[in-house]
Amino acid sequence: MNQLQLIQNRRSCRIFTEQTVEETKIETLLKAALWSPTSKNNRPWEFVVVDDKNLISQLSLSKPHGAEFLKGAPLAIVLVADPQKSDVWVEDTAIAATLIQLTAEDIGLGSCWIQTRLRDHADGGASSDFVKKLLNLPADMQVASIIAIGYKAKERKPYTDDVLNWDKVHRNKF
Ligand SMILES: Cc1cc2nc3c(=O)[nH]c(=O)nc-3n(C[C@H](O)[C@H](O)[C@H](O)COP(=O)(O)O)c2cc1C
Repeated sequence: MNQLQLIQNRRSCRIFTEQTVEETKIETLLKAALWSPTSKNNRPWEFVVVDDKNLISQLSLSKPHGAEFLKGAPLAIVLVADPQKSDVWVEDTAIAATLIQLTAEDIGLGSCWIQTRLRDHADGGASSDFVKKLLNLPADMQVASIIAIGYKAKERKPYTDDVLNWDKVHRNKF
């Protein structure tokens, strides 16, 4: 499969089988993350691999909506960064998250992004603070997102040409 087909096939997966993700595949996902480009090559990110069922369940409660399905995932990679190491840590973590998702698709896994930054926990506090406490993150760290990963319980249709919004593309001037 070429790169464009991989991009076309990747769809968010929120229902996973119970199959554990092999260590070799976890290592592949982490290589993609650790090779991702960062501004000034600062690498402000850190990646917390979570495969403990109880912790995954807790993470699924990190915000009131949009993270519930994580409870059924065998694996989560939490993307965190130290904002003091880079003023564009948000972009850097987003690129790493994207490359993790594309690599997951490439090696037969499903994934879905869960937004943590700027989201609130049900108790009104920041979702990021809840995750920080749960995973013993250092005080300086911010949580960007959580990528839920596992074997797909259901295949979703790849994107097709008819959903390409060509009207969003402008040439020379808007
Ligand atoms: C920045 C970002 C934040 C997202 N946050 C969530 C989330 O919190 N929960 C969720 O279920 N999906 C989340 N998603 C997945 C989107 O809903 C999904 O990518 C979008 O609906 C398009 O579907 P597709 O991934 O199948 O192409 C997020 C995606 C992005 C890029």
